[in-house]
Amino acid sequence: MAFKNLGSAGELFPQSVFIIGSYDQNGTPNAMNAAWAGECSRHEICVNIGNHKTTANIVARGAFTVAPADAAHVVEADYFGIASGNDTDKAAASGMTFTQSEFVDAPVIEEFPLTMECEVTAIQGDKQGARIVGRIVNTRVDESMLDEEGRVDFDKMRPIVYDSTRRIYRVVGEEVGQAWGAGMTLM
Ligand SMILES: Cc1cc2nc3c(=O)[nH]c(=O)nc-3n(C[C@H](O)[C@H](O)[C@H](O)COP(=O)(O)O)c2cc1C
Repeated sequence: MAFKNLGSAGELFPQSVFIIGSYDQNGTPNAMNAAWAGECSRHEICVNIGNHKTTANIVARGAFTVAPADAAHVVEADYFGIASGNDTDKAAASGMTFTQSEFVDAPVIEEFPLTMECEVTAIQGDKQGARIVGRIVNTRVDESMLDEEGRVDFDKMRPIVYDSTRRIYRVVGEEVGQAWGAGMTLM
């Protein structure tokens, strides 16, 4: 094998496509696309976020929602990442349906099948650029996306991931092994 050094390049794949829902101080809903984010425990989500309308919203309201974008809404998901709520009413322009979360001070987007509703527990940095941690207060899911055992079925949902090397979205691939199981043959 011959290896090439790529320098300080983040090449982790996949990166989930998080659609972050928030309200501004006037109650106007907004959504942005964030790929530099992740589940930092089973009950917490961390978002790395620059100086955006969403950042100021989350700092002001102390809450946000996270919907993993699905393949059926790739156009809207990308739109949320290229337009800013500072310039336009993205909720209205997207044609998607924003409603008040039952659990936190942030909007949910009805067309996304899965949404995690979060309250802010920590902010490192400030609204100029921050790493925001949210505790998941509730997760809601479209029942048609559940399997016969009541688990979220990602084959049905078809979440998309971001390929930052090619700057494209992909659907999540096929199952290739059992976690906490495949390695047992080496035990
Ligand atoms: C695929 C993709 C991933 C993105 N990931 C992030 C991210 O992780 N953090 C961030 O601050 N901005 C990210 N952005 C940029 C924001 O979504 C973009 O600046 C957006 O306009 C911010 O919206 P707002 O001003 O309405 O909050 C991403 C954009 C795209 C298209």
